[in-house]
Formats: sequence, structure tokens, C-alpha cells
Amino acid sequence: MNKICFFDTKPYDKTYFEALKAKYDIDIEYFEPKLGPKTAFMAKGFEAVVAFVNDNINQETIDILYENGVRLIAMRCAGYNNVDFKTAYKKIHVVRVPAYSPYAVAEHAMALLLTLNRKIHRAYVRTRDFNFSLNGLMGFDLHGKTVGVIGTGKIGQIFVNICKGFGMRVIAYDPYPLKDAGIEYVKLNELCREADIISLHCPLTKDTFHMINKDMISLMKDGVYIINTSRGALINSEDLLEALKDEKIGGACLDVYEEETELFYEDMSYTVIKDDVLARIISMPNVIVTSHQAFLTKEALYNIAETTLSNCREYFDGKGLTNEVCYKCSKGEPCPKGKNKSCF
Ligand code: NAI
Repeated sequence: MNKICFFDTKPYDKTYFEALKAKYDIDIEYFEPKLGPKTAFMAKGFEAVVAFVNDNINQETIDILYENGVRLIAMRCAGYNNVDFKTAYKKIHVVRVPAYSPYAVAEHAMALLLTLNRKIHRAYVRTRDFNFSLNGLMGFDLHGKTVGVIGTGKIGQIFVNICKGFGMRVIAYDPYPLKDAGIEYVKLNELCREADIISLHCPLTKDTFHMINKDMISLMKDGVYIINTSRGALINSEDLLEALKDEKIGGACLDVYEEETELFYEDMSYTVIKDDVLARIISMPNVIVTSHQAFLTKEALYNIAETTLSNCREYFDGKGLTNEVCYKCSKGEPCPKGKNKSCF
């Protein structure tokens, strides 16, 4: 039996990994802290570590992991913007879970939009206090509105279909548009000008960092709604805050935030929040923030555990790593993966 260690453990992770570990003949040591330069030493004695979206897998972390004998980082998520691939290259293999439930994320994006637009969060609190007034709860019909979808990969496509089911007009921007998918692609500027609602479903890269900034916002319709279930740093939060204050943006549904690492997934209710931008954004009546929970469905957690353990088993068996990502292929450059299913 091979043994792996697991950082940033939450009870819901443990439930699914414990249920499946025997199938892959793997034992797991769970650690509560996030993986980062201060905690990487805990991986000593393990060849494989399991990590997550808010772990800090920078150069220092990777160097410490490597010195301590780690040769595989198994990301239990799809995104990998928190990994320093350049340092890891030819030292530590990085694998991920490319898809676990795109439905979970797309459905959460729509749940946020419906909640914010129809003020369900406010109605819920009111009726529990026997306040049956409707003042301030008015929304708008989604039917007939234009939604602009940025990124039409696995999640974006499902979100497109959900929106079509609501009778919305869908326009999309993606540098790699799908053929024959029945999606009307437009330039990004045009999408900003035409959309009543904009939903982000692209990865965080150098090109997409702060893609929603004051210049892009200035092109948008007054009162536009923005949904971000992808990565926080796609949006310049200070520009978002200004646009919310100016009422240029009519509503924001945020499952992610650019400075979420030290906050999200933790109970901070007894802590003085030092991030004034987040505190002000959260205080707005037309903003809903969830704590990077779009992935959190039973199906997604099961698939995450299954693929992560299968990724680890492939490594221990010396097989090619089906879900490996490296310095080269993470940037879309050719790497040997196609031939032998491992990046190096
Ligand atoms: P995917 O890789 O299937 O699709 C991403 C799409 O974005 C691709 O079609 C790609 O061509 C497009 N794209 C790349 N650069 C772009 C740009 N500059 N502008 C517009 N589009 C661009 O990824 P998937 O599975 O659909 O996931 C999307 C994102 O959702 C992930 O990168 C991740 O950040 C986020 N995510 C969030 C979760 C949550 O719990 N909130 C859970 C899972 C993923």
C-alpha cells in the first residue's frame, strides 16, 4: 500500500477520499494546514501530496517538497494558477482533475444570479421575521435578456445551455471558439457593450489577469450584472468596487475573490477583516459572495476523490500520467505528453 499526504483537509474531503482509498490501495495522512512554504516540510517521507486551490505552491514550497522527497503534486481541482510550474518542471510531476462536475459550477453561477436578481437572500431573512413586505425585492425577467459568456469550455458551455433554457439570448467570447456549438461568438468589447449579464468561465492566466477592469467596465451597459465563479483575479476588485459605488454595475455574484487565499474556507466571523475592499464589497446590498463553493456537490466531491486517487495510483505504478500538466503544456506549448502520457 502506498501512502500520500493531504493538505487543507476539510471534513467533506475526508468523507469521499476515505470511502475510495481502499479501491486504489492508498493510505492517506490528512493535514489541516494549507500547503505553503511554512508547511511543506510536513510532506517529508511522502512521495505524493494532495493539494487544493488556495495552497501556495510557489518556488519555495516546491523546493522544500523536492528536498523532502516529494515527486508528485496531485491537485484535487481543475485550476492550477497557484502552481509554479517552471520550478516544478523535471522535478515534481503535477497532476490535476480536469473535470469533476462542470454542472456543479454552472448551476451555482445560475443559482447566484437568480438569488441576487430576485432578492431571495433578503426574502428568506424577512419572512423568518414575519416581515412579508415586498418593498425592495423587485427583480427583472431573465427571459429575453442578453448574457455574455466569457470562456466556453466545459463549464461555460453548460452555463450557455442553462441560460438558453431561460429564454435568454447568449453571446460569447473565447479565443478558441467552438465550431457547430450553436453559440454566437462576438469580440470581447462587443460582448461588454451588449450584455445585460456577464459570466466569467475562463481560466486565470497572464492574459486574463484583471481582464475585467475599469476600461472594460466603462464599455458595459449601465446596471450590468457580473458573475464570477472562475478565479478572483479575473476582476480588478478595486475597479469593481468603484463601479458598484457609481451604480455602473447593478449587481455582482462572486464565488471567488482575488485575495481569498487567507479567508475563504475558514470561519473568520470572530476576526477583524483587514481587507477593506472585500469588506466594502460584501456590505453592498447588490452583491452576493460565496466562499469558492461552486464545486461543492456530492457528485463533484466523489469525482474529485476518484480521479485524484487514480492519478496517484498511475504515478505509483510508474504509468504515464493521464492528467499531468507541466511548464510547457500549461501554456499551450508542445510537450512529450502526447507520446508517452507523461510531461517529462
Ligand atoms: P475549460 O478549460 O474547459 O474552459 C476554459 C475556456 O476558457 C476554454 O474554452 C478556453 O479557450 C477559454 N479561454 C482561455 N483564455 C481565454 C480568454 N482570454 N478569454 C476568454 N476565454 C478564454 O475550463 P472549465 O472546466 O470550463 O473551467 C473554467 C474555470 O472555472 C477554471 O479555469 C477554474 O478557474 C474555474 N473553476 C471554478 C470552480 C469553483 O468552485 N468556483 C471549480 C472549477 C473550476
